[in-house]
Amino acid sequence: MALSFEIVGRFNRARAAQLTLPHFTCQTPRFMPVGTQGSIKGLTNNQLEEIGCQIILGNTYHLALHPGAELIDDIGGLHKFMNWKRALLTDSGGFQMVSLLQLADITEEGVTFQSPADGKPMLLTPEESISIQNKIGADIIMALDDVVKTTITGPRIEEAMYRTLRWIDRCIAAHKRPEVQNLFGIVQGGLDPTLRDICVKGLVSRNLPGYAIGGLAGGEDKDSFWRVVAQCTAALPEDKPRYVMGVGYPLDIVVCSALGADMYDSVYPTRTARFGTALVPEGVLKLTHMAMASDVRPIDSTCICMVCKNYTRAYIHCLVTKNAMGSQLLSYHNLSYMTRLSQDLHTSIIEGRFPEFVQGFLRTQFPKGD
Ligand code: GUN
Ligand code: ZN
Repeated sequence: MALSFEIVGRFNRARAAQLTLPHFTCQTPRFMPVGTQGSIKGLTNNQLEEIGCQIILGNTYHLALHPGAELIDDIGGLHKFMNWKRALLTDSGGFQMVSLLQLADITEEGVTFQSPADGKPMLLTPEESISIQNKIGADIIMALDDVVKTTITGPRIEEAMYRTLRWIDRCIAAHKRPEVQNLFGIVQGGLDPTLRDICVKGLVSRNLPGYAIGGLAGGEDKDSFWRVVAQCTAALPEDKPRYVMGVGYPLDIVVCSALGADMYDSVYPTRTARFGTALVPEGVLKLTHMAMASDVRPIDSTCICMVCKNYTRAYIHCLVTKNAMGSQLLSYHNLSYMTRLSQDLHTSIIEGRFPEFVQGFLRTQFPKGD
């Protein structure tokens, strides 16, 4: 195992921990920004450090296509290639194929898809995914899982869960660098409590360094989503990190942290920034609105980030969606917001004022109590 997970505070089911990885020690709960092609769109590594990002995602699918895992391996891994000194996590790639390409087809062997480069059929097996991730060299790597949308019902959910369990053994057998890279298993099973239970038990018996809860944030209702997270966190080991994949919205991160989850990732904060939306304590602020054109206040008067210290809403309104600088400034602010949310969750749990923090968060987001 190439990590240590030290719980430093608790409030009911919520935990605050120090997650020590080969390249960096992270405080949890923690939001992890998502990069493609080894960068978070529009931000430099220096800016990411300044914002307080401790761990970021590299996209296996994109990196394997371009520049290719062999090249990254030859250069000495993704940390060296992109000159990122802190922690990195890579997803296994299958989920990205299924969600990005309609043409992906899943069989027992692996995920078959047409190469976007030349249309040739390609096969991503559990062995190949782990081999690519070993070459990329992230601190945390993810098992190849069979993901189905939570809104699908019927035998396909069960098939995908059992296949995910069969594939975890192929992933474990293929993993060549367990002393420097941590392989996380992913709990599948849709919204079915029995299937989720079988999957959790199966993965836990493999004694992995950490566990993810997958197959969520795909259009299911919030009640079902939170119920699955609550069930999985209750059944997962106390002393290992728990990562809810593809989440997301600040509210979901607060609720999942209350339910005992530790790590999150989503393209939402940076994607919504590129569409002109800022994350603020009250919810969202649309910088594209005409009302912003002459508003000389910062995005968020309570935010201490570089953007809020230096620029007005009017200026960002003028740039946004027309000029790359507009997206960059908004991405900078949004990731600062997510970092501050992560830190606030961590410290409020340690200081025994987690309920007050959650109440304050909810009251600001939903002032009318709705
Ligand atoms: N990203 C968001 N959800 C998932 C999931 O269920 N599996 C994987 N591998 N990645 C994800
Ligand atoms: Zn700000």
